[in-house]
Amino acid sequence: MKILVTGAAGYIGSHTCRLLTDSGHQVYGYDNLSRGHREAFSRATGGRLLIEGDLLDTLQLKEALQQLEIEAVVHFAAFGLVGESVKNPEMYHRNNVEGSASLLHAMHEASVRLLVVSSTTAIYGEPKTMPISENSPAAPINPYGQSKWDVECLLQQACEHNGLGFAALRYFNAAGAAPDGMLGEDHRPETHLIPIVLQVALGQRDRIQIFGDDYPTPDGTCVRDYVHVNDLADAHLKAVNTLTPGESIQVNLGSGIGTSVLEIVKHARHVTGHPIPAEMAGRRCGDPPLLIADNSKAQTVLGWTPKYSSLDSILTSAWRWHQKHPHGYQAT
Ligand code: UFG
Repeated sequence: MKILVTGAAGYIGSHTCRLLTDSGHQVYGYDNLSRGHREAFSRATGGRLLIEGDLLDTLQLKEALQQLEIEAVVHFAAFGLVGESVKNPEMYHRNNVEGSASLLHAMHEASVRLLVVSSTTAIYGEPKTMPISENSPAAPINPYGQSKWDVECLLQQACEHNGLGFAALRYFNAAGAAPDGMLGEDHRPETHLIPIVLQVALGQRDRIQIFGDDYPTPDGTCVRDYVHVNDLADAHLKAVNTLTPGESIQVNLGSGIGTSVLEIVKHARHVTGHPIPAEMAGRRCGDPPLLIADNSKAQTVLGWTPKYSSLDSILTSAWRWHQKHPHGYQAT
């Protein structure tokens, strides 16, 4: 299939481009490179066409879809930081919601009717029941989660009225790196737990601050469901093959296993052989105590089973990437 991937130079985008390419799809990237890395896309696809463009440029998107005879779009391009979204809600609405509306319009004009879109556990807010199934009500508690829920609602309308076929993949905590160390996580600034812990092991930071140890969880620190980026990529491949015009699917993508912040730090000490000093700090605003996926629907609907998402596989692959690329893609 000829597939346009927006946000193709980003973390999950680049891993997915690699798998789609390796599986025989013709992948074209679309990225404004505001947060992604050209090198990531180039490594992922062996140098296929990357169009540098913004989601809000509807005309450029439409021309790309038409000229490349695109059959399906995989849409990653979005901002994804909760804290940033609280400070700049309008930026998240513009980039994530209006950007997706622009893409949808371009697809409509170019008669492209199949779409896989990144969504997030943040649409559920602080669910009352665990693990979280797709039946949990959407109740976002921050502008990032709201923006992704708005996108899902927009797509549902396009599905019901315009024959769009889409899959909304609701990620839990994406983590890990390509096992061969070629692709990995490189955010600037970095705010995610695992890369920060590994930056301590590399000597780039003095210590990890643990944001809160008084949560109602077994060790008092927040519990998350970490899912390997290669497993996420695999779900996109499966979703592309499942898309049907006029039908929508929504699935949670998590390992189904909860891991606390302290467990991550302890396991990272084991993997890296570094003491990784930690200090307790206050809670980070907006952090739910516990987020664990019920992934049974993804197994049933997509035939998806996480294969790389053990804590050991996540931390070992991430550590390999960080050792090989202590400054991310920059120094390559
Ligand atoms: N944490 C620390 N110290 C740090 C960084 C993080 O203790 O230096 C803690 C956080 O407080 C949280 C856990 O580690 O409890 C995980 O934090 P991350 O920033 O790695 O990930 P989040 O759970 O905040 O965010 C992820 C995705 C978002 C998504 C969100 C939904 O990255 O895109 O889950 O809750 F919106």
